[in-house]
Amino acid sequence: MCGIVGYIGYREAYPIVINGLKRLEYRGYDSAGIALFDGEHLKVAKTKGKVVDLEDKVKRELTTDGHIALGHTRWATHGVPNDVNSHPHYSNSENLVIIHNGIIENYESLKKALKERGYTFKSDTDTEVLVNLIEDVMSKENLKLGKAVQVALNQVIGAYAIAVFDKNKPDEIIAARLGSPLAIGVGKDEFFIASDASPFLEFTKNAIYLEDEELAIIRLGRDVKIRKIKDDSMVDPYVQALQLNLEQIEKGGYEHFMLKEIYEQPSAILDTFRGRLLSNEAIIKMSGVEDNMKKFLNAERIIIVACGTSWHAGLVSEYIFEDLARIPVEVEYASEFRYRNPVITEKDIVIAISQSGETADTLAAIKLAKSKGAFVFGVCNVVGSSIARETHAGAYTHAGPEIGVASTKAFTTQITVLSLIALRLARAKGTISSSDFRHHLIELELIPDKVKKALESDSYVKTVADIYKTAKNCLYLGRGYNFPVALEGALKLKEISYIHAEGYPAAEMKHGPIALIDEQMPVIVIATKKGHYEKVVSNIQEIKSRKGKIIGVVTEGDTQVKDLADHVIEVPETLEALSPLLTTIPLQLLSYHIAVMLGKNVDQPRNLAKSVTVE
Ligand code: F6R
Repeated sequence: MCGIVGYIGYREAYPIVINGLKRLEYRGYDSAGIALFDGEHLKVAKTKGKVVDLEDKVKRELTTDGHIALGHTRWATHGVPNDVNSHPHYSNSENLVIIHNGIIENYESLKKALKERGYTFKSDTDTEVLVNLIEDVMSKENLKLGKAVQVALNQVIGAYAIAVFDKNKPDEIIAARLGSPLAIGVGKDEFFIASDASPFLEFTKNAIYLEDEELAIIRLGRDVKIRKIKDDSMVDPYVQALQLNLEQIEKGGYEHFMLKEIYEQPSAILDTFRGRLLSNEAIIKMSGVEDNMKKFLNAERIIIVACGTSWHAGLVSEYIFEDLARIPVEVEYASEFRYRNPVITEKDIVIAISQSGETADTLAAIKLAKSKGAFVFGVCNVVGSSIARETHAGAYTHAGPEIGVASTKAFTTQITVLSLIALRLARAKGTISSSDFRHHLIELELIPDKVKKALESDSYVKTVADIYKTAKNCLYLGRGYNFPVALEGALKLKEISYIHAEGYPAAEMKHGPIALIDEQMPVIVIATKKGHYEKVVSNIQEIKSRKGKIIGVVTEGDTQVKDLADHVIEVPETLEALSPLLTTIPLQLLSYHIAVMLGKNVDQPRNLAKSVTVE
């Protein structure tokens, strides 16, 4: 995790890098730092805390002139978050400075060897080891910076996106990546380096995304030169035109990114199926699926790998793939899958789901599945991300940038893409009738408007949030398609309000969790009309007789649950398979309002980061 930003050019570098760090804070926000070169002196300021704390420190300690800067916002891996462990890190001579996103796994042995050669270390970080290794290689072998970085990286085991600057060579920055993302913005007489393109969107729309094991020499007055770190071969830089715009990454009048992203769901879902769902012609067109239809049709099993919210979207799709397309599905935590010697064959299709496209465990699971001969299909949001590139084929969710750490629109758009795939396969396999297929398409087309309707419950959900904001525990129950929604609702509450919450299949309650229920326990029950409604109503009765507080998420017009529950939140009616797209909306709003009322940092909850690029 961590965000890195660099600038070299003719503009004042400080504001560019500070604003860039603010945009990348979703990647980590326990400390921040900046290195500035004013043409003569290389200066570093860094601090525990957020980028605003860094700004305060810079105001007190540094002048901010200069046209070269490297900045970093951290999510600690090696060494606690404190000033010393913050990046950038100097080499011992203070000639070199580095910013790093990733983990150097063999840093201890490298550090030992460097200590024996007289190097000293101020921090506990792996990054300070790397910058001194580069310095050591440079002086020992009398190499230029680019070559020294390359030689050093060949000794490193781990993951990195780095930028390195040498004050004795002030017209260049060296950048490299393995496993962590790195984009280079190419302007006229200026370059930007960043973990994603958001820090430089207003300056240039031309970007080079470094591939794994590539090193870039970024020199003023020259083109970017790229080499393979291992074999030193040259690579032709591929400069692509970015489609993102600034508006998409700003809050647009909302108090938090999370709220903006919750409200963006009608248009995000529409963007997800636009051009793919043609209900008039009763067609679903997805090139990643069409081009590989034979593989999909011959698949004996689909294995879904993902983490967190994306794993929940995978669970929802398990129901729809099995229900409609009759393909057996297993949904695996990527982190478990990769370490348990799973049985995978060439007849398996692995679907990897990831908003960021950078989650380390999911990426490793993909590599494992590929090594066993499986065909791997990616469902990602971030275009050009590592997972999008590592998979054989895929479909983007087109949700637009998701910046709030808690995933919202990523979840609903992932379910949308997966539903389209399941429906397309069901049609191709003949496991769904043409009228049922058409009915699903028509209903899916109505979902954006129905999500809008579900969002109208916002002020009532806020009232409910006010009543339960001081709860210490919460239970979320659902059955069938809405069981994963219960898991997702509980995760949303936990991660942004720090209230303990558990999601359960409603019928499992009596096998244990029912013991928790008393008059203090809010139980959020998803009880929509289709899908085991009567059974869920019985579960509600069981909670009521133990005096639990019941918040029902029900279909518009419901009366039965209304009579039993303390509060009901209505969502429009739809097909059971599509209901998660609606029932999840009030749960997102509930956790959002509770977290805001508790004064929590909704967009940047403690200990979390948006893309988990470490194991
Ligand atoms: C929860 C959340 C995380 C992510 C998980 C996977 O709100 O955001 O649980 O879903 O870290 O991330 P991606 O989808 O980027 O692979």
